[in-house]
Amino acid sequence: MVFRELGTTGIKTSPVCLGTWAIGGGPWWGESDDEESVKAIHAAVDEGINFIDTAPAYGFGRGEEVVGKAVKGMRDKVVIATKCGLWWEGDEGEPFFEMDGYTVRRSLKPGTIRKELETSLKRLQTDYIDLYITHWQEPGDDKTPIDVTMGCLLALKKEGKIRAIGASNTTIQDIKDYLAVSRLDAVQERYTMLDRKIEPEYTELCNGKSVGIMAYSVLEQGLLSGKITMESTFGDAEYRNHIPWFKGENRQRVIRMLEGWTSLTEKYSCTLSQLVITWTLSQKGITWALAGARKVNHAKENARACEISLDPMDVQAIRSDLESLGEPV
Ligand SMILES: NC(=O)c1ccc[n+]([C@@H]2O[C@H](COP(=O)([O-])OP(=O)(O)OC[C@H]3O[C@@H](n4cnc5c(N)ncnc54)[C@H](OP(=O)(O)O)[C@@H]3O)[C@@H](O)[C@H]2O)c1
Repeated sequence: MVFRELGTTGIKTSPVCLGTWAIGGGPWWGESDDEESVKAIHAAVDEGINFIDTAPAYGFGRGEEVVGKAVKGMRDKVVIATKCGLWWEGDEGEPFFEMDGYTVRRSLKPGTIRKELETSLKRLQTDYIDLYITHWQEPGDDKTPIDVTMGCLLALKKEGKIRAIGASNTTIQDIKDYLAVSRLDAVQERYTMLDRKIEPEYTELCNGKSVGIMAYSVLEQGLLSGKITMESTFGDAEYRNHIPWFKGENRQRVIRMLEGWTSLTEKYSCTLSQLVITWTLSQKGITWALAGARKVNHAKENARACEISLDPMDVQAIRSDLESLGEPV
């Protein structure tokens, strides 16, 4: 496996990062099995994946707790990314969404960040976080200024509690504001074959400043794995029910496109998920493909995508298909 450096920290990470949102379960994902999730994390690590992404908001702490359980005894073998900024334990910050009886707010105030970090360290059973990411940026004119948030993150770095700083769900202006204060090691943004909005301005800005991009939801929550059919159904509250690409005609168009890639999966002796992950990793500026898995077979399959390298002509042919597919209706 060819490891990729986290910013300029010297920390080496696998190009595929294991995502743990679904491991948190809850209304957005339906039920998860913690024992199976621990096994999935172990399977990914056994396949050479050393980068794991989680967040307090994934199952209101459950995602972090499962990761903590899984990496116990092998903390030095994994690079853990977790997040701050979605806060439900006080009334600081603007309300963002309601779930499971909690009001989740967006706060990047130093006070809430420090409290969140201490709780994350306990859940993850560790005394440091490798990459600490601001999960969602605060909205509004009276938001916590980015230099104040960064001041707190830089202090935490100095104290040895975090090793690198990242930001997620940002605008180009946010990135410029972070960079005006100090280095940003990574950003985490939605980027999938079916949603490439961050190209090219955002990707070029990050690329030019050596800010690594973690592309999230690269499998479009399973749709691009080819294992979701027109008959597959999801719970009413599940996130996938609200993604336009999962709806009737749109889903049909994606499935037809994926069927057209059989010659490619045969050529590379790979699965569709592996083709999709590898294609994502070959896009300019994309440093990591963040693929979620809570099942052993998914974790193994996704990890093995690191072994494939695509011919540039095939990378371009896939892009042409995506351009022809266009937008969901
Ligand atoms: N910063 C942010 O705001 C943000 C937002 C979204 C995601 N993320 C991060 O990015 C990670 C990945 O995104 P995501 O979880 O939304 O979506 P994803 O990686 O596109 O999809 C994950 C889901 O796809 C299915 N899947 C995965 N591998 C598969 C395979 N090989 N074959 C068939 N199905 C497969 C699984 O569904 P089942 O488990 O139901 O089978 C899995 O839970 C998250 O876990 C999280 O760490 C961050």
